[in-house]
Amino acid sequence: MALTVYLSLAFLSLFIVGLTLRRIFFLRERARMEREGRLGGRVIARVGEMQPGSVKKFWLICRKYRVDGFLINYQGDFHAYVNRCRHMTTPLDFVRYQFFTEDGRHLICLTHGAIYEPGSGLCVEGPCKGLSLYRLPVLVDRGEVLVTCPSGDLSYLAD
Ligand code: FES
Repeated sequence: MALTVYLSLAFLSLFIVGLTLRRIFFLRERARMEREGRLGGRVIARVGEMQPGSVKKFWLICRKYRVDGFLINYQGDFHAYVNRCRHMTTPLDFVRYQFFTEDGRHLICLTHGAIYEPGSGLCVEGPCKGLSLYRLPVLVDRGEVLVTCPSGDLSYLAD
């Protein structure tokens, strides 16, 4: 009986420590985003460092959510999406930093092979056909690419 109580208290303590650390990291990242941001967004890359076909992962703090995203240069235009497949809540880059198909014409989720159009985020092949990646607004300012939080209801980011 006593052992059960001790173990329960130990697990509860670990849980509280985990929550506290998570909150501290969240607040640190939010402060960093405010430092590095302007025009309501966060600077993700310099225009010159992102050649067509390149990808850069990033995170944003959008209200109470941490958003993991990726920025692409597709045929000279920048697009940013939440790094979450529309089939299941897994990142597209199951293989680290592999977002494009081999021919570079589409984005791919390697978990089950969903294929997305890079310019629109629309899933055109695979288990989530017809759904779109969640788009994040992109701005280009003073030679830098910024990504901002989407407006409106962000509850889908909680999944
Ligand atoms: S999780 Fe992406 S295709 Fe299934």
